[in-house]
This record gives sequence, structure tokens and C-alpha cells, in this order.
Amino acid sequence: MTDVRLSPEVAARLEEALGRSYSPYSGFAVAAAVVTGSGRVFAAPNIENASFGLTVCAERNAIFQAVAAGERDILRLYLLTPTRELHTPCGACRQVMAEFMPPEAEVLCLSREASQRFTVGMLLPAAFSR
Ligand code: THU
Repeated sequence: MTDVRLSPEVAARLEEALGRSYSPYSGFAVAAAVVTGSGRVFAAPNIENASFGLTVCAERNAIFQAVAAGERDILRLYLLTPTRELHTPCGACRQVMAEFMPPEAEVLCLSREASQRFTVGMLLPAAFSR
């Protein structure tokens, strides 16, 4: 993890979520954690389904957990893949980020060997919104 600082709490929550990934079809585990304006952390993994299209990415699971807990003010999202290369959020998750995170909110992508900082606005410029 090169240029992203990670608190011990967020690091632990990401690893815990990664261990709970349900990804028997792709074999690709992903974890995401969001930090809200009130300082709460919500972490979740990807959860797949035999009906492939019903799979939900880690990012959306983490965001929806926060929103379901009444926390709509999401300031930062961490995405962890246990790979060498970095991965960035899929298009569907970018649209969901744009719903609950301001354009300047941070998206920190982490792999085992690299990290990169983005903002929501960088990942989804000219977003469709209400
Ligand atoms: N996945 C995520 O959890 N986040 C992304 O941004 C991209 C993909 C998951 C979905 C599926 O379980 C697996 O990775 C392979 O696509």
C-alpha cells in the first residue's frame, strides 16, 4: 500500500470483510469500507449468487449498510482486493457512490502491492443525478 494511509481500525475491518467474501463463482474476493461524516465505519464484501446477475459488489454492500443505518453522509470509500494489481470500482458502483458521496469524496483503492487515490468526481465525471 504505497500512498494511502490506513487507520488500524479500517485495515482490520477491511480484512475481516475480505474473509467474509462469498465469491465461489468468480473466486475474486473484494472488500469495501466506507467512513461517514459521524466517523462510523461500515465494511462489507462482495456477495455472489448462482444467478450471476444477482451478485452485489463490496462497494454497494458497504454503502447500503451505511444508508440502512441512517448514515447518508459518506466521506470516503476504501476498496481492497488481495491482488498485486490495483482494481477500481465497477460502473454500477460508481453510480451508487455518486448518489451518496459528494464529488470530492475520496475513493482509495488498495491492492497488496499498490494503492491509488481517486475522488468520486474523477471516477464518474458528469454523473447523472437528481
Ligand atoms: N466486484 C466487486 O465487489 N467490486 C467491483 O467494483 C468489481 C467487481 C466483485 C463482483 C464479483 O463478485 C467479483 O468481483 C468478480 O466480478
